[in-house]
This record gives sequence, structure tokens and C-alpha cells, in this order.
Amino acid sequence: MTDLLLGQVLSFTADPFLEGEAAARHETHGAVLVEDGRIAAVGPAEALRAAHPEARVTDYGQALISAGFIDAHVHYPQTAIIASWGKRLIDWLETYTFPEEMRFGDPAYAAEISGRYLDLTLAHGTTTVCSYATIHSESVDAFFGVAAARGLRAYAGKTCMDRNAPEGLRDTAESAYADSKRLLEKWHGQGRLSYVITPRFSPTSTPEQLAALGALWREHPDCLMQTHLSEQLDEIEWVKALHPQARDYLDTYEAQGLLREGAVFGHAIHLAPRERARLAEAGASLVHCPTSNTFIGSGLFDMGLVAEGIRVGLATDTGGGSSFSMLRTMAAAYEIGQLRGQALHPAQLWWLATAGSARALRAEDRIGNLAPGMEADLVVVDLASTPAIAQATGRAETIWQALFPTIMMGDDRAIRAVWVNGAPVPRG
Ligand code: GUN
Ligand code: ZN
Repeated sequence: MTDLLLGQVLSFTADPFLEGEAAARHETHGAVLVEDGRIAAVGPAEALRAAHPEARVTDYGQALISAGFIDAHVHYPQTAIIASWGKRLIDWLETYTFPEEMRFGDPAYAAEISGRYLDLTLAHGTTTVCSYATIHSESVDAFFGVAAARGLRAYAGKTCMDRNAPEGLRDTAESAYADSKRLLEKWHGQGRLSYVITPRFSPTSTPEQLAALGALWREHPDCLMQTHLSEQLDEIEWVKALHPQARDYLDTYEAQGLLREGAVFGHAIHLAPRERARLAEAGASLVHCPTSNTFIGSGLFDMGLVAEGIRVGLATDTGGGSSFSMLRTMAAAYEIGQLRGQALHPAQLWWLATAGSARALRAEDRIGNLAPGMEADLVVVDLASTPAIAQATGRAETIWQALFPTIMMGDDRAIRAVWVNGAPVPRG
């Protein structure tokens, strides 16, 4: 089956942090040709219609067709505790997160939350997530099982913790290695699934556990490795006390073989000059989680890191983040940029939520953009989804003026359709 989707079409030919809005390609009357799960062509509607008279046409009118959103750092097991009041990072983990994560040894509960989470993310136009699971292998099996059934490209790994976590939520250096290895061999590269080696963060891993996961990563160098870095000042002080031999927070990972291309660090707000330089030199990726950073009170991410050549993705950080929506997340990134005197252009915000996140996950040759050969994961966005947004876009003269009110005020009502792996997702 060949499908031709008609609408406004937004894609990128370059990085808008380098090239500005010239990096974006916008067709007012555009089309995307989809064949066998992939994008076969992107261009003007008239030309593609004439060239492919056999294609089944879906006309989305004035709605905007884009690559699906990519949420580069989430904790799907925290779905049910999103928007929990009044705590900062360490207290928040102990009060809300750990008790909830304890429940994921139960495969039925893990499957229920995996389904609920992926329903919510798809409804918000997110077609790929990179998730932490819990300490339990069952939580990985459940998540990948549900993601595979929906045809999603998905990333996840067992969260490893061998200290400073409650009984029932701790593994050991040896069991973290063995369980991660077994799960990696079971799931990595199965269909569209990728296993991610996942030490939670240095406060909950001994150097021995980090070293064991560094060894596993050396054995499977094509995997990603994800963890947290320098999210809150209290956390950084704690890391200093727990890892007195380390030069800084990044060094707790670097010394154990956990810093190189394919390392994906969440947050990375309070970085020392040595850390910034090493992250750039090593080719590591950072993930900006703006709603989480304001919700938990962590700080203001510096987008200047992009100019230093570092791969930066965007993420909700569910459930530390306060929304499942990458639109809301773009809005929060804009607001944090404003507080730092860095006004992000709508092209940059949209790029971060699609191609930028794909690049952070080293998947930019497959997802995150509309171009021939890319996988057909698409979102169709209504740019007048509420009366408030419609009146704000009424006088727009450019695509950016038309898009920005949806970035700032849009939610799942703006998501007109989602396509995964070349097929439309049935509306729930
Ligand atoms: N640092 C370590 N674990 C977590 C987590 O679950 N959420 C956030 N926001 N930060 C963390
Ligand atoms: Zn996180």
C-alpha cells in the first residue's frame, strides 16, 4: 500500500542552531509519500499527486505534517506519580518514586502501566521514547512487549541501583551486569527495539556497579548508555561525598568506562568547565528536561552547550516532568531560554523535539525527520486546535508565527493524527 498524506509539511535540511530558520523546509501545500513503513518522497502536493496516482490519499487540509516527537529521557514507571506535590529531587525520589517503582516486579502492573504510558504518549504525538524501567527485569519485558505490539521504535533499559535505595529496589554489581546482559541479548535489535544500559545515577551505584556496566558496554558498544548528571546542587554535593576519588560528577562515570559516543546524560544543568569540555570531546549527548527542571526546582539548562558541538535532545522526564506533551516541553524550553537570555526560535524548538532528540539517541538516520528512506513515524498537528490558539494564529504571516501559539499553548487536542511505521494509529 502506498499512502499520500497532504497538508503543510515541515522538515529539516540542517541544524537550526547553526543555520537558523533556513535549516527548515516548509511546504504550504505539501505531501509525504509513505511506502512499506518508510517515507518515499516529500514535496509539493500537486507534483506528488501527479506522480503517484495509485496512492491512497489522506488530506489533512491546513494541518502540519512533521516527524513524530521523540522524548529522549523518560521514566515510564513514574506515569502514575506525575504531578506529585512539594518535593525536591532526593525527597521526591524517596517519597514518591521509589515506593511506586517497587510495584514493577509484578508483570501485570508493569504491563498495565506500559500500556497506559504508551497510550498517553501516542495521544500527544510522541512516536519514540527512551525510557528508564525499574530494577526489575519484568519492567523491561513488559515495556518492550507493549512497544513491539504497537510497532514503535523504542529504547529502554533496566535501572541499576546497588545502594541508597530501599530494600527490594536494590541489585548488586554482579546481578546488574547479569540481568542487563540477559535483557540486552533478549531485546536489543529485535524489530525496532533498542536496549539501553541504565545505571540510575552515581548516588545509587557503587563504583563497582558502574565499572560492571562499563564492562558490559564495552562488550556491546553499539548500545546506548543512559544516566543522570548534575541535576541539583544537593545531588552534586552528595556525589562528591560518595565518590571522593572523582574529579567531578562526570568523572564518576568517565572513570568506569561510561563516557563516550552513545552516552546519554539527562539534565546536565550544573556543569564545571572540565565537564563541558569532556562531554564535547567525548561525543556524548545531553537531554534537556525543562518541565522537570522547573517542577523539581533543579535549575536552568544552558542551550549554549549546543554551540559547543554537543548533541542535545529534549525530553519530558516523566514523572519528574509535569507533562506527557512535547509541545508543553518545547514551551518550557522556550521559557527557560528566556530566563537565560536565550530566546529559542520555533524552528529550534521543533528541531529539538524531533531531529535533535533523534541525534542525541544517535538515530538521526532513521527517525526524527521527513526525508526519503526515513522511517514513517509522523505527527499531524492542528494549528488551530483551541479558540485561544486559533485567534492567536489568525494574523500569522509565516509558518513560525502560525506554529508558535501551538508550541506555547497546545496539548493533545492539537494532535490530529499519528502514524507509526507507515500506518495510522487508531484513535483511542
Ligand atoms: N535522578 C535519579 N533518578 C531520577 C529520576 O527518577 N528522576 C529525576 N528527575 N532525576 C533522577
Ligand atoms: Zn530522569
